Amino acid sequence: MTIRAVPTGIGHYLPDRVVPNSEFEDTLDTSDEWIRSRSGIERRHFAAEDETTSQMAVKAAERALAMAELKADDIDAVIVATSTPDLTFPSVGTMVQQGLGMTRGFAYDVQAVCAGFVFALANANGMILSGQAERVLVIGAETFSRIMDWEDRATCVLFGDGAGALVLEARTGTGHSDDRGILSVDLNSDGQYRDMLFVDGGVSSTGTSGKLRMQGNALFRQAVEKLASTANAALGKANLGHDDVDWIVPHQANIRIIQGTAKKLNVSMDKVIVTVQDHGNTSAASIPLALSVGVSEGKITPGDLLVAEAIGGGLAWGAVVIRW
Ligand code: UT7
Repeated sequence: MTIRAVPTGIGHYLPDRVVPNSEFEDTLDTSDEWIRSRSGIERRHFAAEDETTSQMAVKAAERALAMAELKADDIDAVIVATSTPDLTFPSVGTMVQQGLGMTRGFAYDVQAVCAGFVFALANANGMILSGQAERVLVIGAETFSRIMDWEDRATCVLFGDGAGALVLEARTGTGHSDDRGILSVDLNSDGQYRDMLFVDGGVSSTGTSGKLRMQGNALFRQAVEKLASTANAALGKANLGHDDVDWIVPHQANIRIIQGTAKKLNVSMDKVIVTVQDHGNTSAASIPLALSVGVSEGKITPGDLLVAEAIGGGLAWGAVVIRW
């Protein structure tokens, strides 16, 4: 008998305010054409001034719980992947607990920037396989609009806000790759790449929250290579290959990275969930947002084999193979 962490509910939340590329043309030396052609982004959502990461996370979580037909107190653990918490502490996770009216279990945050949701899934999988928890709510939620330098055209046009949530439940499997649930995980990081993507402020250095800085072109070159290699590694660990993949659910940073990675993996773009045009780069929220959109559009259906892959600041990168 094998225990598997099986997805039973997914949901997302996007703030009301939609910002088209054209809005940046008034204040920056940029154009809708440049943003679209270099990144694939057409619009993104920005949180309202008084809207926080934890509030968006709660809304996404409520939708995921409804789909799983569970109440907040059925959940044993909440893991929130975020780099833009409401406060330095307590964790967004505990704020979500309170927001959901959850009076038991435990909650905490995971910080692996854009790869955060993959790392949080790995964590949740470990919790379930070790018997620490039977039902885990895994959330990616970000307000990256709060760490943008609005004068830096090379970064501020790329990011957006939002949240996505996934319920994972312990189920019995056979141990084979046709089981539903998380089948394998591959995680990596390498601190030597710190300067490629970082925030120039923090509690113990500047005492400020800082702004995002990125060497986009250098990161781009790392991204395709590392994403393809981690996705292949995760597939290999599950004894599966590219022919078995029904959907790639990639981190949504740039359509050209998504296309380059799919090509390296030998998977057609028809089998890739793409939301970057509507959401921009929402960091740790991007994979659960894409998953939720893929499910709600009827593309991802039970039994489908998914590969979720992401890379971000650290650098940290990884992939998870899930049978939906
Ligand atoms: O989520 C974490 C992972 N994130 C990523 O993986 C992001 C990786 N990087 C990228 O997605 C791309 O590198 C970008 C979209 C950030 C940039 O695309 P690029 O094709 O690599 O462009 P570039 O940085 O090489 O810049 C090309 C030109 C430069 O001008 P010069 O030096 O050639 O005259 C930039 O100054 O485009 C200029 N530029 C802009 N022009 C108009 C940079 N930003 C803008 C802009 N509007 N917003």
